[in-house]
Amino acid sequence: MAKQRILSGVQPTGNLHLGNYLGAIQNWVEIQQDYDSFFCVVDLHAITVPHDPKVLANNTKAIAALYLACGIDLTHSTIFVQSHVKAHSELAWLLNCVTPLNWLERMIQFKEKAQKQGENVSVGLLDYPVLMAADILLYDADKVPVGEDQKQHLELTRDIVIRINDKFGTKKNPVLKMPDPLIRTTGARVMSLTDGTKKMSKSDPSELSRINLLDPPDVLTKKIKKCKTDPERGLEFDNPNRPECNNLLGLYALLSGKPKETVAVECADMGWGQFKPLLTETVIAALEPIQTKYHDIMANPDYLDQVLREGREKADTVANATLKQVKDALGFLPSL
Ligand code: AMP
Ligand code: TRP
Repeated sequence: MAKQRILSGVQPTGNLHLGNYLGAIQNWVEIQQDYDSFFCVVDLHAITVPHDPKVLANNTKAIAALYLACGIDLTHSTIFVQSHVKAHSELAWLLNCVTPLNWLERMIQFKEKAQKQGENVSVGLLDYPVLMAADILLYDADKVPVGEDQKQHLELTRDIVIRINDKFGTKKNPVLKMPDPLIRTTGARVMSLTDGTKKMSKSDPSELSRINLLDPPDVLTKKIKKCKTDPERGLEFDNPNRPECNNLLGLYALLSGKPKETVAVECADMGWGQFKPLLTETVIAALEPIQTKYHDIMANPDYLDQVLREGREKADTVANATLKQVKDALGFLPSL
């Protein structure tokens, strides 16, 4: 039987942090061999907020290199750049014309990002989830592995599928395949180092709030030394009054590979003075192999170019077939 397909992506806006790794990419690495896996760098999404054209291309390469450095394996997976596959923009337009405006105005991420942008909100920012739906639907993805924050966008994608299939397909011959989200519970929400109630984010103005995958050991040491804690002794999971404690213990468990129960016992009597050096050592050890591999890949640009060229060719073939199917269902005059 053919393997089911998964598709996911990350935006090339700055550095990847532990939230991206533990919430998304580490999960991709674990499940990639069970699926026909597609991972894209979603550069078209990166320009939905004001961006710097001088760094976009390099950031795109860096994210692709990080996919490889984190363990995405080309025998199971295809890595490509979203803007290289033109079908993404074209399907997004077709989906735009069946998506009600008020579905988009309801999106939490849009409301949050729009608030931060003030006067400067682009149509692209509102349309972001439709482009994301196009990314997923072009590949007939069965599952979409993402962090919990993307759940609402997946629901919108599913609503778009229902609508298109209702209007333009039949029960026996649906136009688009219905995808399911794949959200793992551990690591699904990594919180900020400076506020345990806020998620770790690329857009937080404070660098101290996040651990980047490429932070060198001295920076990691400094960030963990300065991170927010509480005045209590003894460390515990799941105490709603101690969000920082829960987050930091969770990071320790995920990065050391120890089960939560083991960590709960190990750290039950520790103070922060004992725990922070332990966490620092664990984070440095977990990131070291990723950083070494990343620097090796970036030192060999021909290799990365080739990975992305081959990825684009494979992605193009799958995406163009779906795009044609949608255009036919919508009644367009075929181009000869
Ligand atoms: P983004 O940084 O918005 O491009 O997100 C890329 C992927 O990382 C998505 O699957 C997100 O759900 C996931 N992600 C981002 N921030 C976090 C976080 N703080 N905790 C867990 N997952 C996250
Ligand atoms: N919106 C996703 C995020 O910020 C990134 C993304 C774009 C994506 N297209 C996608 C994720 C398709 C999964 C599938 O995390």
